[in-house]
Amino acid sequence: MSKRRPLVAGNWKMNGSRAESATLVSAIKQGMSTVAKAEAAVCPPFILVPLAAEMLAGSAVAWGGQNLSVHKSGAYTGEVSGPMLKDYGCTYVIVGHSERRAYYGEDDVLVADKYAAAQAVGLIPILCVGETLQEREASHTETVVARQLDAVINKHGIGSFKNAVIAYEPVWAIGTGKTATPQQAQDVHRFIRGRLAASDKAVAENMRILYGGSMKGSNAKELLAQPDIDGGLIGGASLQAEEFLTICRAAD
Ligand code: 13P
Repeated sequence: MSKRRPLVAGNWKMNGSRAESATLVSAIKQGMSTVAKAEAAVCPPFILVPLAAEMLAGSAVAWGGQNLSVHKSGAYTGEVSGPMLKDYGCTYVIVGHSERRAYYGEDDVLVADKYAAAQAVGLIPILCVGETLQEREASHTETVVARQLDAVINKHGIGSFKNAVIAYEPVWAIGTGKTATPQQAQDVHRFIRGRLAASDKAVAENMRILYGGSMKGSNAKELLAQPDIDGGLIGGASLQAEEFLTICRAAD
């Protein structure tokens, strides 16, 4: 791995009671004392962000949201804004997760707006891209990923990627136990970096590109050994402290 600091972020999705979350956060916080280089972050459901914020303040572990509104405040029932996440000390916010794209109708335009809304308040967006199984089988992986990236580059400029993280999450690998092979993942990560490099070489070189999709303790090492994989966005395995910490150590 390069000079880029590895990042392992846990996307808890819609999981966790207060008690379970407190146990998990506490174990991660403690376990990170043995991790030197890699950065860890947790992204709990909104309602558990205050708990994470309180427990992790002053620690080496960062926290973030899983989504945000494009608006700052106002009559938007059920929404949570960037300034609210910032107010709770979030560093990161996930935007464009495939579950948001698939189940909540988020298209490239909305995702690009959310990306900008995050940056407008100093949050670092973790921009998710990735193809479905159907798209992969039709050899459309690069076309899809390029379209998802270009939607943000064209609207907000390559310069905006100085303050962003990208996560490549092949939809067919999410929650399926079916991980991309290290080579499959590396190929797309290299493609993403190349796409950025076409506009700005330094931005491309510094960009942290995370892999997400059934990454766990037992397969993290070989994925993270790939030259263009700079960390992970972890779903299921981020709900178990030991699994998550094993991935952090593999990234170290
Ligand atoms: P899993 O690790 O459960 O496959 O989920 C990956 C993911 O969607 C992270 O955002």
